[in-house]
Amino acid sequence: MQDFDAKYGEYLRYFEDNLENKLNSLSKNAPETIKRAMEYAVSGGGKRVRPVLCFAVSEMLGGNASQVKEVALAIEFIHSYSLVHDDLPAMDNDDYRRGKFSTHKQFGEAIGILAGDALLNFAFETVFSAAEFSDGYIKAARLIAEYAGYGGMIGGQVLDLENENNDNATEKDLYDIYLNKTAKLISAPILAASLIEGGKFYEELKEFGYHLGVLFQITDDIMDECGTIEQIGKTPHKDDAENKLTSIKIFGLNGAKKLAEKHYSSAKKIIEKIDGVGFLTEFTDKLYLRKS
Ligand code: IPE
Ligand code: IPE
Ligand code: MG
Ligand code: MG
Ligand code: MG
Repeated sequence: MQDFDAKYGEYLRYFEDNLENKLNSLSKNAPETIKRAMEYAVSGGGKRVRPVLCFAVSEMLGGNASQVKEVALAIEFIHSYSLVHDDLPAMDNDDYRRGKFSTHKQFGEAIGILAGDALLNFAFETVFSAAEFSDGYIKAARLIAEYAGYGGMIGGQVLDLENENNDNATEKDLYDIYLNKTAKLISAPILAASLIEGGKFYEELKEFGYHLGVLFQITDDIMDECGTIEQIGKTPHKDDAENKLTSIKIFGLNGAKKLAEKHYSSAKKIIEKIDGVGFLTEFTDKLYLRKS
């Protein structure tokens, strides 16, 4: 296989080029403030994990990055908006994101809220600006809407807030949060790519996305506890300060690490069987070991 870092770099460059083009296409007539806030929220500092997953799964199944570029952009727009809103004072109240001021800190709360709303709409404008609409593509667009919505990421964010200061929460409560607030938006690019390729390995990839997404959130919790602001680009020890329901609160740091290992093994077992090239297998390894 081509070197993992070189391949990741290739996907990243492709994504950033497409992002730049897309942002250059923003209407000349719209207020400058909202366009600057949208650009600020999506540009720079993000790892672009979701777009890279989308490209890699598409290629693994016989498609290519260009067929899924609008989907990859849309999911990154939705993800970025979810971060803008997540940082608002009414939610996690975080002043830093991706190594710079969070969007509401830079532009004020009202523009922060509106920039998030605008990115969500722009996501679907982007999805529906693709050149071709196969049945699979329409199914992918629908899945993105569902997984990002009240029964997905937004629902998970509600549960996350409702479980702040809940000292009687159970493991099931924790998993409801993880599945919805994080695993759904990690699964969306994987499953959208599968649907566009006629639903190839859909059930296996659904399982993979679940374990990878839960692993992603556990490692995020661990970094909140152990990372520095330079490493994670956001304020550390925020979960403890807000008394959030996390794997660390329920299982302790060592327990959370063990749980990460369990989901890592499950994700890897599934993807190894499908992934001829090895990129997604190595992606899973890197995600497990990540420090940012
Ligand atoms: C942060 O997501 C929010 C979680 C779901 C844990 P990322 O860690 O993907 O954030 P960026 O896009 O790289 O900033
Ligand atoms: C956020 O989870 C998940 C989203 C849907 C944005 P966190 O609140 O743990 O994310 P960070 O740590 O602020 O990035
Ligand atoms: Mg949060
Ligand atoms: Mg947060
Ligand atoms: Mg976090």
